[in-house]
Amino acid sequence: MISRGLLITIEGGEAVGKSTQLLHLAERLRGSGHCVVTTREPGGTPGAEAIREVMLDPATVLDPLADTLLVFAARADHVAHLIRPALMQGKIVLCDRYVDSTLAYQGYGLGVDLMSIRLLSSMIGLDPDLTFILDLSPDSALARLSNRQGALDRYERFTPAFAARVAAGFRAIAMDNPDRCLLIDAAAEIEDITRLMFDAIQTKLGRP
Ligand code: TMP
Repeated sequence: MISRGLLITIEGGEAVGKSTQLLHLAERLRGSGHCVVTTREPGGTPGAEAIREVMLDPATVLDPLADTLLVFAARADHVAHLIRPALMQGKIVLCDRYVDSTLAYQGYGLGVDLMSIRLLSSMIGLDPDLTFILDLSPDSALARLSNRQGALDRYERFTPAFAARVAAGFRAIAMDNPDRCLLIDAAAEIEDITRLMFDAIQTKLGRP
C-alpha cells in the first residue's frame, strides 16, 4: 500500500510529445478524482526556472560537467520546495523530465560519467515510482522539430548524432529498469498513449 503520493516522470528526446501527454494524463487523472500536480525539469520553482533560462539559452557555453551540476542544483530546489511537499500531501506529481534526462543527455549524449550522475542523484534521494519513456526515431523527431514555430533552444540545436545517442540512452535506461520504466512508441495515437499511461498508474495504485 502506498502511503504517500506518487512521483511519475515522463521522459524522452526532443519533440516526442511529452508535454502534450502530461496535459492529457493530468486531465484524465483529475477526472477520476486524483489530486495532481504537474511540473517540469529543469524548472518547477522560481530558482530552478532561473537555472533553466541559463541552461536552454543558445548563447550559453558550458562544460558538460558544469551543465550536469547546474541541472542538479535546479533539481535539489525543485524536489525540496515542490515535489516532496506535494508527495507528503498524498498528491500525484507528474514531472516532465527528471534524472533519466540527465543520464540520457549529459551522460549518454555528452559523455559525463554515468556513475557520477547516479551519485548526484543519490544525494537528492528521490526516485520516481513510475517512468514513461516516449521513444521516437531521431529522424521522426527531427521532422517534428522542423515543423515547430519559434527559435530552437540550446539542446534542440544539437546534431542528429547527439539526438541518436540520447534516444539510445533512454532505451538503455528502460532496459536497465524494467520495474520502473515503460518504453512507449511515441508514434502511436495520442489517446492510445494516454490510456496506456493511465492504466499503468491505476495498476501501480492497486486499482486495475
Ligand atoms: P523541454 O522542456 O523541451 O523538455 O526542454 C528541456 C531541455 O533540457 C531538453 O532539451 C533536455 C534538457 N535537459 C537536459 O539536458 N538534462 C536534464 O537533466 C534535463 C531535465 C533537461
